[in-house]
Amino acid sequence: MEFRNRDIISIKDFSKEEILHIIKTAKKFIPFAEGKKYSDALRGKILSSLFFEPSTRTRLSFESAMHRLGGSVIGVVETTTSSVKKGETLSDTVRMADAYSDVIVLRHSQEGAARLAAEFAEHPVINAGDGAGHHPTQCLLDLFTILNEKKRIEGLNIVLLGDLKYGRTVHSLAYALALFGANLTFVSPKTLEMPKEVVKECKNLGAKPKSTTVLEKAIKDADVLYVTRIQKERFPDPEEYNKVASSYRVDLSLLSKAKRNMIVMHPLPRVTEIAPEVDKTPHAVYFKQAFNGILVRMAILHLILGGKTR
Ligand code: CP
Repeated sequence: MEFRNRDIISIKDFSKEEILHIIKTAKKFIPFAEGKKYSDALRGKILSSLFFEPSTRTRLSFESAMHRLGGSVIGVVETTTSSVKKGETLSDTVRMADAYSDVIVLRHSQEGAARLAAEFAEHPVINAGDGAGHHPTQCLLDLFTILNEKKRIEGLNIVLLGDLKYGRTVHSLAYALALFGANLTFVSPKTLEMPKEVVKECKNLGAKPKSTTVLEKAIKDADVLYVTRIQKERFPDPEEYNKVASSYRVDLSLLSKAKRNMIVMHPLPRVTEIAPEVDKTPHAVYFKQAFNGILVRMAILHLILGGKTR
């Protein structure tokens, strides 16, 4: 298993064994992520944080992960403060970040942007979300969270809910859950169904995903309910967004129909799809899930930059 200097573009770049190794490594970082222990494993290393689309969790947790490992961060968080504003291309921006740092974390609105960046960079590129494409580190932290909460993935009934068309996190996650042998149910409005190619990939891995528009029925046997936001920013027509914006809402009434130990996950940010009253229930694990992002990102940075053993 070799991680050193690898680009991380899609979850499909990893075998099951490699995913489990990242998750195992991530667990070791709990006291470091909580600030109870200090590491200088990546002292002298610099991370370029290039975020051309908004982000709270991915950017902050990558930056926190790098600092917690003793490394440093430079970055661009919007196009107005960099030479992108003057018309500089993504490839030239990436070349510069590559010259100034040891690893590049890139979020971009264009699908394929991270793959392109990796062609121009000598150092590893980590895809922090490319349009409706992939978000591999989100997928890893989602798998980490399910394994941590449920101790297994194989045989679990997992419902993916919401915007399955534009939501990049569910594209990566559906593939990975199929790889790990989960029973999948996709719940969405008709117009936001899981793309056919993702369904096909799941089937190729032996899964038999079901699709429905009715959440109440799907939730009854669910062990995990993975909720997503309707991705307003990716709708070409705002009218189409308005038609589906309030399709589903997870609230206490809905949860009364679920198993007592069903967990509710969400990559966040949420808007109205999970009522705040759910936050205090034992079902809600989405804030823990967001914390787990630091662990997984510490593990990835440590592995691909060849961090010193502690
Ligand atoms: N889950 C996630 O990608 O969140 P951010 O958009 O805040 O990074």
